[in-house]
Amino acid sequence: MKKEYKIVLLEGDGIGPEMTAEVARLFDFLSEKQDVKFNYKIMPFGASSFFVTGSSFPLATQQACENADAIFKGPIGLSFEDTKEIPLEERPERGALLPLRKKLQTYANFRPVLLPAELSHFSPLKKEVVGNGIDLLMIRELVGGLYFGEKKRGVDSNGKRWVTEELNYTEDQIRNIQITALQAASQRRKKLCNIHKSNVLLSSIVWNEILEETAKDFPDVEVEHMLVDAAATALSLKPGSFDVMVMENMFGDILSDQAGGILGSLGLMPSACMGKTQAYYEPSHGSAPDIAGKGIANPYSSIASIAMMLRMSFNMPREADLVQKAILSVFASGVTTPDLGAFSNKQLKQVTTREFCDQMLANLAKELS
Ligand code: NAD
Ligand code: IPM
Ligand code: MN
Repeated sequence: MKKEYKIVLLEGDGIGPEMTAEVARLFDFLSEKQDVKFNYKIMPFGASSFFVTGSSFPLATQQACENADAIFKGPIGLSFEDTKEIPLEERPERGALLPLRKKLQTYANFRPVLLPAELSHFSPLKKEVVGNGIDLLMIRELVGGLYFGEKKRGVDSNGKRWVTEELNYTEDQIRNIQITALQAASQRRKKLCNIHKSNVLLSSIVWNEILEETAKDFPDVEVEHMLVDAAATALSLKPGSFDVMVMENMFGDILSDQAGGILGSLGLMPSACMGKTQAYYEPSHGSAPDIAGKGIANPYSSIASIAMMLRMSFNMPREADLVQKAILSVFASGVTTPDLGAFSNKQLKQVTTREFCDQMLANLAKELS
């Protein structure tokens, strides 16, 4: 009897359906070739769902997510202008994505920033800076901070607008993400860089205070502290100095997109959103409205997110490694999607998303045979 898993695919918006189609092909392939069956169903989520069902996170999707063994979420969101067609609270970021994170309590967002030596020509950074490639792991708190604090706006007696939004963290929220990061660091190069802004924010003072306590249980991990602004510079000047980085929600949003920049594209940024009992996997990038529907988006962030799912939700490290290797081998063979290559001195063949994944599946078939 094959082991069976229930997977929910949230297609999302923009390039989301194109990414999800490739993920579905990978699940079909694995189900056919391996001793496991991934039963997936596509559920409405995001702006596309709002226009059809009136909700960007309908009840049926919520229930399917609760019952799933794992979830893949394609990017959601519309362009700056198009999103105005949706009432604020139903826009997919506020109406679907944040509620998904809250509902599943996926507090730990793993965003690996990886550029193996043989792909370092994709980076916009100079050879001397990239060295032997880039390999660090950003760990971002995902269910607290400014994103989830109370938000209010109003108009004062002079007719001027005001706005406040709260940044809330509980001790347990801070402890949990720090322990996750310390554990990850002790399994890697045993270096943790704590990102903070304690020169201004009280939340960082408390965060750092708690880290002094949590770090005591991990004497093998060397903890370094860096202000978030300085970290932004260091990421571009000496990316090799980092191993694991831990940070609160908003810092992690911004620094992880910068990480995509030093790799050469957001198309190289997979992620895993882990809770105590549930998890979902998503590319770190958005719906890329500028290239949606063209069939040219880079599928790496989505496919490598599935490799993370195989490793972290299904304890299938061999298959995870093989999927990761199969997709990296496509790049290593001199093939790329158009988002990458502008900084490269190599002769590269540009292909479509589908062609790229055809080659990835062919590589995988060889590895599995
Ligand atoms: P974006 O990440 O969609 O795009 C930024 C740039 O990166 C664009 O030039 C885009 O073409 C490129 N890019 C992103 N992914 C790519 C891929 N796989 N292949 C090739 N190029 C890729 O960011 P944005 O334009 O600021 O936001 C667009 C929408 O996405 C917004 O509505 C935003 O809220 C939403 N968004 C959603 C998520 C998510 O679902 N987790 C994440 C970020 C942004
Ligand atoms: C991300 C995205 C989201 C975030 C948006 C779409 C709400 O940018 O996953 O990085 O800010 O967390
Ligand atoms: Mn982001």
